[in-house]
Amino acid sequence: MAYDHIFRAGNRADILKHVALLAAADTLAARHPRDRFVYADAFAGYACSPMVGSFGWEDGLGSLLKSQGEQSDDDGARVNPHLALFLRRYFAHTTITSDRSTWRDRPSLVSGIYPGSSLVAFDAIRRHGPTPDLRLFDISLAVIANLRAVFREHHATVVGSPAEPESPLLTDVDLLLIDPPGVRSPNDRSAPGWNELSALILSGAKSATPLLVWLPIMGDPNGETADSQSWRREIAARDPGVRTWTTQWKEAAPAHGGMLGTQLMWRLPQDAEAAVFAALESIRTQG
Ligand SMILES: C[S@@+](CC[C@H](N)C(=O)[O-])C[C@H]1O[C@@H](n2cnc3c(N)ncnc32)[C@H](O)[C@@H]1O
Repeated sequence: MAYDHIFRAGNRADILKHVALLAAADTLAARHPRDRFVYADAFAGYACSPMVGSFGWEDGLGSLLKSQGEQSDDDGARVNPHLALFLRRYFAHTTITSDRSTWRDRPSLVSGIYPGSSLVAFDAIRRHGPTPDLRLFDISLAVIANLRAVFREHHATVVGSPAEPESPLLTDVDLLLIDPPGVRSPNDRSAPGWNELSALILSGAKSATPLLVWLPIMGDPNGETADSQSWRREIAARDPGVRTWTTQWKEAAPAHGGMLGTQLMWRLPQDAEAAVFAALESIRTQG
C-alpha cells in the first residue's frame, strides 16, 4: 500500500513538526506586510485526519496531553506559547485515558481529529489577518479530495503532481514546508531522493524563502546514516542559512515504522527561528 499518513497522524514526529510549523507561521504572519500570505506545502498530506485505532498518536499526542494533564498550574504558566496555542486550538475538548479497556473500537480521544500541516499553517496565518494563499502538492487521490473539500471556500491551489523546484507556484512564497513521506532507498522506491529534496530546498536559497523541512532518522541504532550526514553537510555548504535540529527517541517505536528520531531543518528569519527552537526544546524536555 502507498504511504498513507492517516495511520500515523499525531505521532511524536508530527507533534514536533506541527508545533514548529505553528511557531514559524505565527511569527511570520504577525508581522507580514501584505494582505496575502503564500504558504506552500510540497508534500501536503490530509488537511485533517480522524484519530483511528491505536496508531502513532498514542505516544505522540497521547503522551503529550497526558504530561500536560499532570502539570500543576505553576508549570502551566511556563508552557511554551506555541505549544499551548496548538493544544488549546485543536485539543481543548479532547480527553484521553490510558485505560485501553475503554477504547473498544475507537481511541478515547473525544474530539478525535488531528490537524495536518496545511490546516495548522492556515489557522496560524488567519489569526493575524492576512489571507492564506495555499499551494498544496500531493499525489494521493484521497489526500487531494480531502484538501479540496476542506479548503473549498478558500484560496487554495491543490496540485496532484510532485512539486517542481521551478514551478511558478513556488515563487514568492512566504513559507514553504517540505515534509516527504521518507527518502528513497532500496526498500522505498516511491519516496523522493536526496537530489530532489536538495533541489526543492536550494531553489529558494537566493530569495531566502522561509522554509521548514522534516526528515526521519531511520534504521541505524547508532544514529543518522552516512547518506543523510553527507547530504546535510552538502546543504549547509551550499546554503549556510539552513539550520538543523535533531532528536533521537530513547528507543525505536514500532508505531513509527522503525523511525529512531527526527530531524528538522529551517531557513528562517531570526525571530521565527527563535520561536521554532523554543517550541521544539519545550517538547523535547517533556518527552
Ligand atoms: C508525511 S506525509 C505529509 C504530512 C503532512 N505534511 C502533515 O504534516 O500533515 C507525506 C505526503 O506526501 C505525499 N507524497 C508522496 N510522494 C509524493 C510526491 N512525489 N510529491 C508530492 N506528494 C507526495 C503522500 O501522499 C503523503 O500524503
